[in-house]
Amino acid sequence: MRNIIISTFVLLLFLTGCSTRQPQYRIGVSQCLDDAWRQKMNYEMERELLLHPDMTLSRRIAYGSNELQCAQIDSFIKERVDLLIVSPNEAKQVQPAVTRAYRAGIPVIVADRRVPGDEWTAFIGGDNYKVGRLMAHWVMEKWKKRGTVSKPFVVLEVAGLPGSTPATLRHKGMIEGIEEAKGEGLEAKVEVQSVMGRWYQENAYEVVSAYLETHPLPDVIVAHNDLMAIGAAEAAGGVPIMGVDGIHPGLQAIVDGKIECSATYSSRGDMIIDAAARIIHKEPYVRDTVLETALVDITAAKPMLKQDEAITRDLETLHLFQTQTESKWRQLRYDKTLLITWLIVSIALFLLAAGYIIANQVKLQQEIKQEILPQLVDVQEAIQLSHRDVAFADRLKQAVDDHLTDQNLSVEYLGSMLQLSRTQLFRRVKTVTGKGPLDYIRERRLIRADQLLHTTDMTIQQVALELCFSSPGYFTKCYKEYFGHLPSAR
Ligand code: FRU
Repeated sequence: MRNIIISTFVLLLFLTGCSTRQPQYRIGVSQCLDDAWRQKMNYEMERELLLHPDMTLSRRIAYGSNELQCAQIDSFIKERVDLLIVSPNEAKQVQPAVTRAYRAGIPVIVADRRVPGDEWTAFIGGDNYKVGRLMAHWVMEKWKKRGTVSKPFVVLEVAGLPGSTPATLRHKGMIEGIEEAKGEGLEAKVEVQSVMGRWYQENAYEVVSAYLETHPLPDVIVAHNDLMAIGAAEAAGGVPIMGVDGIHPGLQAIVDGKIECSATYSSRGDMIIDAAARIIHKEPYVRDTVLETALVDITAAKPMLKQDEAITRDLETLHLFQTQTESKWRQLRYDKTLLITWLIVSIALFLLAAGYIIANQVKLQQEIKQEILPQLVDVQEAIQLSHRDVAFADRLKQAVDDHLTDQNLSVEYLGSMLQLSRTQLFRRVKTVTGKGPLDYIRERRLIRADQLLHTTDMTIQQVALELCFSSPGYFTKCYKEYFGHLPSAR
């Protein structure tokens, strides 16, 4: 019985386990920062994840710290995530952790910012060099528009974190682009001066303000992202400024006239998740995806802003929907657990009751077999025996009564009449009458004698003789012993 209960439990637990479909694959996401651009990327990832219910995301943010990011990647390695997505803070410093993950057999998608070497599974990110070239193009357009002035054309570059690939490549693209475009007949030189904004708006404001304390206003400002462009605009109002990213805060700043333009820099979290799913499911994927960039000026910014707002609203609705669905799922799972628990308890109780009843029945059957049945047999035998005894008693009485007046009625004679040996006769007569054959014969004679005395006119002597008593005295003695009083004739 215990085995049945245990098997039922195991079966139910198995069924419960089967029906609760948990995501199979855990994706670790290591984000270097948590600004608007990265939040957009996160949203895009989550939206795409809806198409892959077998995957779940676990996100950790390093808040601009290389050490923290490496530690977070190492913890993902320890947890044996099924795939790792890394957007590294600074390329060289974070590369060792990326390599460790890759060498540990975890597929790694490097997103947005590259790391040196090729120990990663896939890369998806924007063309930072081209972004730099777009900056150079815009700078040169401005330079041309200013015309021939002898003083140099000063470009203030507000750079991102120096060790990060976007900062390096955007700078490189811009410098090389400017170099290539120089010598177009314009006399004065283009002079690029750089300050470090490290990607943050407040930093950019501070470094540009500090710069302006010792320098005149530059001709243009080029910031490596829109947030720093906005910071720079707060410090150096009136200077034409270009940023990078082309999403909400930057687009709004263009529409508001704070900055002049931006270069788009796609985050494409959706593409990253799609690639992750392909890698996990061993489907073909593109190893190196470089995303396009384009200049956004006031004409493009207005519709883009509208679109961006709509997308943000969609994403928020989606997020809300997701949260609601999750809470419904949680409720459903809770209800299911309750139901299953209730089922298990009911089945267990049923099995216990059934076990108890069956055990009792078995016990009862054994009792009947071992105790009641033998007793019944005894009773039956006893009944049969008593039937035989009654028949024998009849035959005995008959044989004795038929020969009460016969002098020859002896134990031997009676035995021969009843076809029994002396011992058999003695035993059976004793059983049915409680006395020996001679005593029984005497009893029957005394009873007949008593009848005769009361129903006939015979005298005591006559009756004693008739019933073969040796003398009337002996008859009287026996009579008194049996009836308790002396015999009397009528
Ligand atoms: C956000 C960000 C963007 C920039 C990108 C480059 O963290 O600074 O503004 O374009 O990173 O990786």
